[in-house]
Amino acid sequence: MLNIISCSLRSGGCKSVAFNSQRNLSISAPYGAVISEKRQLTLRSNNTSIQSAIEKTATEKSSRWTAYSVLNSSKASSERHILGRAKYLQKELPVRIAHRIVAMQGLPYNVVNNQTIFKVLEMYITAFERLYKFKPIKTIEDEQVFSVMLRDLLDQGREVVSLLAEGFSECRKYILAEDTICQFLDRTLTSRLAIRILCEHHVALRQDKLNHVGIFKLNFSPAKLIRDKGELVRKICDDKFGMSPQVVVEGHIDSEFVYVAPPLDYILVELLKNALRATVEFHMEKGHDQLPPVRVTVSVNNTDFIIRISDHGGGIPHKICKRIWEYNFSTETPQDRRPQTVSLFGGMMDPRGSGGPSSTKMHGYGFGLPMSRAYAEFLGGSLTMETMQGLGTDVYLRLKRITEDDESFRI
Ligand SMILES: Nc1ncnc2c1ncn2[C@@H]1O[C@H](COP(=O)(O)OP(=O)(O)OP(=O)(O)O)[C@@H](O)[C@H]1O
Ligand SMILES: [Mg+2]
Repeated sequence: MLNIISCSLRSGGCKSVAFNSQRNLSISAPYGAVISEKRQLTLRSNNTSIQSAIEKTATEKSSRWTAYSVLNSSKASSERHILGRAKYLQKELPVRIAHRIVAMQGLPYNVVNNQTIFKVLEMYITAFERLYKFKPIKTIEDEQVFSVMLRDLLDQGREVVSLLAEGFSECRKYILAEDTICQFLDRTLTSRLAIRILCEHHVALRQDKLNHVGIFKLNFSPAKLIRDKGELVRKICDDKFGMSPQVVVEGHIDSEFVYVAPPLDYILVELLKNALRATVEFHMEKGHDQLPPVRVTVSVNNTDFIIRISDHGGGIPHKICKRIWEYNFSTETPQDRRPQTVSLFGGMMDPRGSGGPSSTKMHGYGFGLPMSRAYAEFLGGSLTMETMQGLGTDVYLRLKRITEDDESFRI
């Protein structure tokens, strides 16, 4: 495994880090005072060539396609198209991964040297190295080997979010500016999401799945997804509290359109988890059948679709309202967390993992809201909240539909 053997960065207070694709991170004072222009992280000598390749690749610009153009060009799913997509990925993925590596290496020493964060850095470097060393794809046989490697990279990257959540909860005290953490995690998590969508789409192009073009579902039904995720979250809630409120779905429940389900899976589960937890905790003394239901309303139009999740969980207290969008802010105490409780991050973007709860210790790290908002914005939408203290909370998730319109999100 790659290892950092010398690192002369010093940690210190920081205002903000501008993540760009330049060779050196553009860092504003007082960060700049402690990190020289050329990053001083060095890798083990036999990997210096990879480090140089990373730095060189990180100077290149990433090229993002609209979801509509990815979908449209994939409809033919001929071997020629698949080969073309593989060549695009072979060039594109190292660029995106290199940007993230450079951003990670530019974090304060105490952060990047945290065992858990460092593990993520190593995973990214290993992924970069494998992609970088892959021979130029020329034939469909090369593409098949490349797809196997993509599948493997997807599997290996499954725990990245859990690791980042854990790592940052351990060492966020070394970064004083909340904006720095938020910018770094928003960019890293949405870049990972896009990479996984691209890879999953490529791998899925070969699978002849009914009503699908790669990862796009042609008859996607938001109401069905909400019902499925509602059932899943109720099980998690029952397991933790011994009771769970009903989840009622209303509005345009028969609406179907083309969409990519996986990022929405994640967001819905997180929002439902919050709503169900608040409901049970606020009405704890009532019996199972006395819990007020969580109501989810779907509204669909030609431009976007909106999902409102309304609970009667008592609302969000004034004193924490400002902090709920911060990464790692949670009112769950470590004692509340049960070992081996449910993680929904592990299975993110992986069809084999997203159907049911996986068991890692990820829960209550305070990633649910900020990460869901970052994903919603990446998808060209928004996540907002209205809370009525003493009564309950309404969460509005607004997402763009995939249309010819230039406004559709870019992957
Ligand atoms: N619907 C809600 N009603 C009341 N409080 C809420 C609601 N949604 C979020 N909160 C508050 O906001 C905090 C942050 O939410 P967030 O989802 O980011 O983290 P978490 O639920 O504590 O942990 P995680 O989502 O990582 O399991 C919660 O701990 C909770 O106190
Ligand atoms: Mg949550």
